[in-house]
Amino acid sequence: MENIKLNIENAFPFVSKASVDAYEAKVKECTEMLHKGTGKGNDFLGWLNLPSSTTEKFLDEVITVANDLRSRCEVVVVAGIGGSYLGARAVIDALSNMFGWLQQDTKNPVIVFAGNNIGEDYLSELSAFLSKKQFGIINISKSGTTTETALAFRILKTQLEKQVGKAEAKNRIVAVTDAKKGALRTLSTQEGYRTFIIPDNVGGRFSVLTPVGLLPIATAGYDIKKLIAGAQDAEKFCGADVPFKENPAAIYAAVRNELYKNGKKIEILVNYHPKLHYIGEWWKQLYGESEGKDLKGIFPAAVDCTTDLHSMGQWIQEGERSIFETVISIKKSVYKVEVPMDQEDLDGLNFLAGKRVDDVNKMAELGVTLAHVDGQVPNLHIEMPELNEYYIGQLFYFFEKACGISGYLLGVNPFNQPGVEAYKKNMFALLNKPGYEKESQAIQARLKK
Ligand code: PA5
Repeated sequence: MENIKLNIENAFPFVSKASVDAYEAKVKECTEMLHKGTGKGNDFLGWLNLPSSTTEKFLDEVITVANDLRSRCEVVVVAGIGGSYLGARAVIDALSNMFGWLQQDTKNPVIVFAGNNIGEDYLSELSAFLSKKQFGIINISKSGTTTETALAFRILKTQLEKQVGKAEAKNRIVAVTDAKKGALRTLSTQEGYRTFIIPDNVGGRFSVLTPVGLLPIATAGYDIKKLIAGAQDAEKFCGADVPFKENPAAIYAAVRNELYKNGKKIEILVNYHPKLHYIGEWWKQLYGESEGKDLKGIFPAAVDCTTDLHSMGQWIQEGERSIFETVISIKKSVYKVEVPMDQEDLDGLNFLAGKRVDDVNKMAELGVTLAHVDGQVPNLHIEMPELNEYYIGQLFYFFEKACGISGYLLGVNPFNQPGVEAYKKNMFALLNKPGYEKESQAIQARLKK
């Protein structure tokens, strides 16, 4: 079995090999901080050995509940936000037939997402769609109090109970939340919902390999055992005992910190497959929330290529030279589509006749890489042998491990997110939430000025 591969050769025109190698001792120190639990945020390190500690028995329990939901529902709404949403969406979008749900002939339930915004029109259109469907809900919230998710769940639960009655609704709702704390735990106990626990020591953005990701992914019909197997192998090849130069997580952490030190303040995660869009969204949250604090941190952005070359391409090629890119490339695509020959050749594309669309895409990718390097954009390259559960599992763990090391190299606590609270405080004050009376007065006075 191959592994995902990291290639950083195209970073070296911009930073020296020696300067990256010089990180070896520091990376070792940071890796030890993770493994010995001596660094900041050490109460959130449960993700580190999560793949190797996940048992077959546990995965079977998740699959059993997923199969029960699959047998009852033609649509499953996954309600969650941030870390309680993006990982599942990334895998489901990456593996689903992009037009499957329009064909409606799939044996898998349609998975839709909610609780990740407060759009009234979104919820209204979702409710209308669900009104004609046999649907269920996976409600995911570690704290159990996140407004976006709780609001959507209240609306969807009310609708489901009206459509199928309280007793059947109970069979179609599964909660993923804290073992003891939070409103969702209380509600689940009271209503008798089936539940899965998000371990205390795993933060939202590191939770995709817990039931947060596993239950929706299994419900969508994908193989969570392969996903975990991939993560288990990545746990080994990114392990503390793997020498620096052979350890992709260590190298990625080192090179991106060196680029940052040299003025490359923005990292763009680039894909050449529309199915990877939400992998980019998941990655943005992982690195953005982990590193963006204490007035530091690489700004994580993502683009879908070649689509975004026709919108962001100009900026990337010739804008301020403060960026580097990390490309996720897929070696082998699933299907084969050849460019047909056309007698008249009015579009002038006969030079491509007989070639696979993926060959064209690969040449676009190579051409863009060369152009970007010429345009002073350092390029890191991650190759996935194929797009499947196993390699996505590898990719997830690789990025998580590198993120932990990278955050410590940067000198921040990669496992907290204090900045996320600021908007919530204002929103609760503006909505007159009980307990926010003082903040409410202060904000009203500020708005009157
Ligand atoms: O990474 C994080 O901790 C956050 O993005 C959370 O996952 C997000 O805010 C949702 O929180 P909760 O699961 O408590 O509803």
